[in-house]
Amino acid sequence: MRTLVIGGTEFIGVHLVRALTRAGHEVAVFNRGRRNERLPAGVRTIVGDRKDHAAVRTTLAGERVDALVDVTYAPTTGEDVDAVLDALDGRLGHALFVSTCRVYDHALPIPYDEATPRSLYWGEYAKHKIAGEDTLLRRQRERGLPVTIVRPTHVYGPMNTRNNETFFFDRLLRGRPVLLPGDGRWLRQFGHVEDLADAMVALLGRREAFGQAYNVTGEETITQAGFVELIADVIKRPLDLVPATAPTGAPAVPFGQNLAYDCHAVHTTAKVRALGVRPAYTLAAGLAQTYDWYLHEGLDRRHADFTADDVFLSRAR
Ligand SMILES: NC(=O)c1ccc[n+]([C@@H]2O[C@H](COP(=O)([O-])OP(=O)(O)OC[C@H]3O[C@@H](n4cnc5c(N)ncnc54)[C@H](OP(=O)(O)O)[C@@H]3O)[C@@H](O)[C@H]2O)c1
Repeated sequence: MRTLVIGGTEFIGVHLVRALTRAGHEVAVFNRGRRNERLPAGVRTIVGDRKDHAAVRTTLAGERVDALVDVTYAPTTGEDVDAVLDALDGRLGHALFVSTCRVYDHALPIPYDEATPRSLYWGEYAKHKIAGEDTLLRRQRERGLPVTIVRPTHVYGPMNTRNNETFFFDRLLRGRPVLLPGDGRWLRQFGHVEDLADAMVALLGRREAFGQAYNVTGEETITQAGFVELIADVIKRPLDLVPATAPTGAPAVPFGQNLAYDCHAVHTTAKVRALGVRPAYTLAAGLAQTYDWYLHEGLDRRHADFTADDVFLSRAR
């Protein structure tokens, strides 16, 4: 298949490009060209800024693609998604949009399936993702373009641009305590980036997936505290977990980004599993592999600033 990835040089995008290449697809990426040295050999690059809609139209004018994956959050609005679809109008076989489980109304009881009402619980981010999803669905309804929406949550793994699992590796390796928000009982789910990439590849060109949205994440559910305990277990380090709640007006408590919000985030993946798409990694195996990458990259020797932790710990103890 001739595939086009919008983005492709950061975290999820890189893993997607690798998975497409592994599966034997022809891959082109469209981005501003800042990190194109990360791309595997044989990937064609198209340089442009997706926010410049006139340039998107000109740059993509000669492209004919079987499948488009719109990964990047630039932040990407519905108009930005529309501009790419317009530029490929009549020359595109299937469009897949990377949304997020944060489109769901997290004030509702868990778990969230794909029919859970969407809301602006998660603010601007949810607003843009909902607009992107609706843009795709409108294309299919009005112009017959086959579209698919993928909703990941808490993606982890090598090359993560967010300081999530690395946040805990940094502290545990140095024997530092880990601050935990409240009692740490909110539920979370994590999906390995390679599983997400493989799921997207598996959905491309798949007729049953046309017009559908899919939650794509790991199959395990774990509390905030359980997640940190599992990481300590996987990397074989003792854990000193310090429950902490920020007093009003205090500086922000340095929690790992995936921990620091007060609601459950649990999503059913039965719909995508019904297509035979399942994660290969357990959470423990995925964390072990991510830790190997962290060590391999020498991130265990990087400078880490614990000043904010120390301010809070001196008050908490
Ligand atoms: N991480 C998670 O836990 C999680 C969970 C749910 C959903 N998601 C979604 O997954 C996606 C993350 O994708 P990602 O990890 O690949 O990183 P990303 O930060 O969304 O995308 C970065 C890529 O987009 C390109 N890019 C950025 N701005 C651009 C622009 N204006 N025009 C053209 N290209 C642009 C970058 O290359 P250049 O800088 O060279 O342009 C780079 O290739 C997002 O859509 C996010 O909402 C993530």
